[in-house]
This record gives sequence, structure tokens and C-alpha cells, in this order.
Amino acid sequence: MASPTQDGVLEALRPIVDPDFGKSIVDLGFVKNLEIDGGRVRFDIELTTPACPVKEEFQRAARDRVSALPGVDEVQVTMTAQTRGRETPQGGEDLLPGVRNVIAVASGKGGVGKSTVAVNLALALRGTGATVGLMDADVYGPSLPLLTGVSGRPETRDKRILPHEGLGLKLMSMGFFLTDDSPVIWRGPMVHGLVRQFMSDVDWGELDYLIVDLPPGTGDAALTLTQQAPLSGAVIVTTANDLSLIDARKGLAMFEKVSVPVLGIVENMSYFVPPDLPDRKYYIFGQGGGARVAAEIGVDFLGEIPIDPRVVEGGDRGRPITLHAPDSPPAAALREIAGAVARKLVVLAERTPAIADANISWVTN
Ligand SMILES: Nc1ncnc2c1ncn2[C@@H]1O[C@H](COP(=O)(O)OP(=O)(O)O)[C@@H](O)[C@H]1O
Ligand SMILES: [Mg+2]
Repeated sequence: MASPTQDGVLEALRPIVDPDFGKSIVDLGFVKNLEIDGGRVRFDIELTTPACPVKEEFQRAARDRVSALPGVDEVQVTMTAQTRGRETPQGGEDLLPGVRNVIAVASGKGGVGKSTVAVNLALALRGTGATVGLMDADVYGPSLPLLTGVSGRPETRDKRILPHEGLGLKLMSMGFFLTDDSPVIWRGPMVHGLVRQFMSDVDWGELDYLIVDLPPGTGDAALTLTQQAPLSGAVIVTTANDLSLIDARKGLAMFEKVSVPVLGIVENMSYFVPPDLPDRKYYIFGQGGGARVAAEIGVDFLGEIPIDPRVVEGGDRGRPITLHAPDSPPAAALREIAGAVARKLVVLAERTPAIADANISWVTN
């Protein structure tokens, strides 16, 4: 029997469509290194993020379709990922040259779970095989040392600060530099300098994602950060009982001012699942508020995270919920949100190739 041809294999793969792009994986150029040796067919499918939710489906569909071709005895499909992200700006200064996606996690108020979402988002992305850093830029309440169990002054090498490594992440926090519990009074210029240093002087290396835990609110500290960091997008965290359209609008306006797309709103502490009734959801503060606010301001709703005492427990022990209780409802919700964020970034990077250029104007001013 005749051997299969390159064209034959590509035609067989063409009906497989990436749901995020609405296009064939062949037309998107995801099929790489196609080799045909008699009846043996080998190729890679290169995804745009390791967090692709349909990875297994793609692999199975590709194998089934190619196996069905006449003359094919054996099919080997390797799934790979090359995280897409912002392009390095031409000319302008790039404060984070090796980082492909910088994601800010913001909130209108403190105490809504911003840091919890930030650290678990980082871990969930890490869990997909991505390289991830976490920058705690909340100068008022640095919580990364407690949340990760990592502390101590970072070392420097060649005048560069080396981020701590813990839980599989690169970590940097103001908390690593504080030696006692006295509150730090920050004035605008100090925040400005610190944030800059956390980008320009920290040796982040190559990262697929850098998650930035912003200070709460839309005050000076948060604003400075959104102006200085080359953000790819922002996630706004709110709670069901603190849903404020005004805060959400303010947040959106802050990011719009510096041309940072808001990836969506996350509603934390939305409902309660009783341990003995795992199929029940009790919406203590009412249901659907986050989605409504998101719709009103015209951004995506990324998901709801249930309230669960294990979140507090894990946080206090330096084992965030996605590690402490990976099978718990909040961990599952956080992984879904991480997937949604990763896919949103891929689509954004594709649609707005000039995004990095747009950043230059405010990075350098
Ligand atoms: N889904 C949740 N269920 C239970 N407790 C939570 C949840 N999310 C956050 N918390 C707890 O709420 C407190 C505030 O969360 P944190 O992430 O520090 O908020 P922020 O960074 O916005 O100030 C912490 O004690 C944290 O463990
Ligand atoms: Mg915090």
C-alpha cells in the first residue's frame, strides 16, 4: 500500500479547530516536525500555552484522524507548548526582557483574597508546566513570605537581586527585606523606586508568566505600578459581599488609562460547599453578583471561588490551597480561572501584536 503523504496528513488534521482562535490547527501553524517514514507518521502539535484545556482532546483527535488514513501503521503525536506573549519592544526600554506575560492581580479593597488568588494562579500555571514568577508588590501588606513559607533577605549577584525559589516559583516580596513587624510608611517616590527595582534589578530570567500582586485599590501605589510594569493584562478580584460597581469601574478606568486590558473579574468567597454535602452550593451573599458587575462594566467574568476554611489553613502553613488540598472546590475553581487567564492572554497576544509598542510610551516616560 502507498505511504501517506504530507498533504494527506495535513488534510486529515485540518478539521481540528482550536476553540480559542476558531481556526484549524493546521492553518494556525500548530503542526510541526511532520515526518513520514513508510507507514510511520510522527509530528508535534505546538500549543500556545501549556495551560490548554483541550490538550488531550487534540492529541486523541489527531491520532485517530491520521491513523484512519490508508497506509498508516503507526502515529506518534507529541504535544508541546511555546507560550506566546508580548513582543519585546523595539527601541524602548524593557524592564522585564525575559518575561512573556505579566499579569497584575488587583482589587478594590484589601482582604478580598487578592494575594490568595495571585499565589494560587501562579501555582496553577506552574502546574501546567509553565515557568512562573510571583512579585508581591503590595507594599502595604506583603503576604508572600507567609503564604509561601519562604523568607529571608535575597542574595545579590553582579548587582542583581536573585529572587527566592519556592513551591516551584520565583518569588520576590518587600516582605523579604523587612526584619521586624513595624508597619512601613511608604511615600509615593519610594513605591516608585521599589517597583522599578523589583523589575529592573531582579534577575527573573526567562518566565512564561509573572504574576504581580498589586496593592489594593486605585491609589498612588497601585497606579504607579500599572504605569511602570509592562503588564499584559489584569485580573480584578472581588468578593460577593463587597461587590461594588464603583470600585470595579475605578479599577477598569485605572487599567484603561495605561492601555492594560482587564482580563476579567474573579469573585472570591462566593459560596460555601458543606463538607458532608459536596453537591450543594450555598450562596451566602447572593448569586451572580460578580458576573453582573462584569457584564455592566463590559469585561469577562472569570469564575467564582468558594469560601473554604482550608484556604486559610493552607495560607497560614505556606501551602496555598492548590497544593494543600488540590481536590478541594476552591483549588478546582482556581485552576479553571488560571486556564481562562492563560487562554485570554493567548488570544490577546494574537489580536494585538502591537501591544508591546503601546507599552513603551508609558514605560519610558
Ligand atoms: N476562598 C476563600 N475561602 C476562605 N478564606 C479565604 C478565601 N480567600 C481568601 N481567604 C482568606 O482571607 C484572608 C484575606 O485573604 P488575602 O488573600 O490575604 O487578601 P488580600 O490580599 O486581598 O488582602 C486570608 O486569611 C485568606 O486565607
Ligand atoms: Mg494581600
